[in-house]
Amino acid sequence: MSIRTVRLDEYEGFLAFLNAGMRPEPTATRAEDDFPVILGRGNLDGLWGWPDARGWAAGLAVLTRRFTSSAGDLTVAGIGSVVTRADRRGEGLSAGLQEHVVARLSGAGVALGVLWSDRPAIYAGRGFQPAGWEYHLDLAGLEPSGLLPDGAEIRSYRPADAGAVANLYGRHPLRTIRQPGDDAVLYAMPGTRGFVLDRGGNVLAYAFCGKGADFPGYVTEWGGPAPDALAVLAEVRARGLATRALVPAGREDLLDLAVSLGAGLAAVPSGLWSILRPDLLPGGDAGPADGQRLDPRAWLGTVDEAGMPVPGRLRLAVWGFDSV
Ligand SMILES: CC(C)(COP(=O)(O)OP(=O)(O)OC[C@H]1O[C@@H](n2cnc3c(N)ncnc32)[C@H](O)[C@@H]1OP(=O)(O)O)[C@@H](O)C(=O)NCCC(=O)NCCS
Repeated sequence: MSIRTVRLDEYEGFLAFLNAGMRPEPTATRAEDDFPVILGRGNLDGLWGWPDARGWAAGLAVLTRRFTSSAGDLTVAGIGSVVTRADRRGEGLSAGLQEHVVARLSGAGVALGVLWSDRPAIYAGRGFQPAGWEYHLDLAGLEPSGLLPDGAEIRSYRPADAGAVANLYGRHPLRTIRQPGDDAVLYAMPGTRGFVLDRGGNVLAYAFCGKGADFPGYVTEWGGPAPDALAVLAEVRARGLATRALVPAGREDLLDLAVSLGAGLAAVPSGLWSILRPDLLPGGDAGPADGQRLDPRAWLGTVDEAGMPVPGRLRLAVWGFDSV
């Protein structure tokens, strides 16, 4: 039987298969709680399985979205929930499924693939390697006095704040171009807490911490001008909900302010990246030299041994809630 996408009537069974592979022990949340967009019913085109006579033998999920970048908008596919049934592991099924899906994505004009794993060897054969960077801000030493504007309060996020929050998210120069409804689903993940800085009924900044059971102790998304956003981050830390915050490339203004107020900083690769269509990246044929055209570090940069970002030709940010 051949590799194909999952039908609606197979959806629940496919999720049970993915959960059995990724979370064999009971956990507080299910994979679809922590990754509700990529594993949602609305993303059936991105749920790929390889059936055999006993059911699903291998599977993975893909979320394809447009992203803003330093060189215009690009299509990026995030890949996650990669599973092979225990009795079929070691036969090359996952490698075959990954190759099939990557070829489809490349044929559909997807420029880049990205995934997150602490076992890069599973994906290295498809060109995925650590590249890009994002900042992890350590909030422990932050001395935020005076950040909260007069007349402002920090309160819990409410669904009615969604429009204002989407506007603030949209002001990050490097971001996912979310589809309608993506954000509402992300902000409602179980175990996720949101806060906003409200002045006179206007939401000036926001922060979410947690991402279901993923990223405990982290602010996984925030938005707003740097001083206001930092005031929310400080409040989240004061409540004991997070000690660190993810900061995407393009928001060095918040980093600079946070560091000047005592926060710590580390740069880490932003994911495992694969260049699927170098011809669609800026510069096209005039991109990196031939030997480097498929090297994600040549395009997206990397982090050097001293922990400093090394720029590439292209900047984009896939972070926090949009990692899959
Ligand atoms: C990880 C998993 C999907 C691999 O599936 P599989 O069908 O056995 O994988 P394959 O035989 O196709 O091997 C795929 C590649 O991963 C490598 N690989 C597989 N298992 C590995 C392991 N335990 N350690 C290091 N590399 C491994 C293979 O060498 C192969 O590399 P290549 O394509 O460059 O030749 C499977 O073990 C699984 O479902 N594990 C539980 C869920 C999980 O951990 N998923 C990964 C989340 S990041």
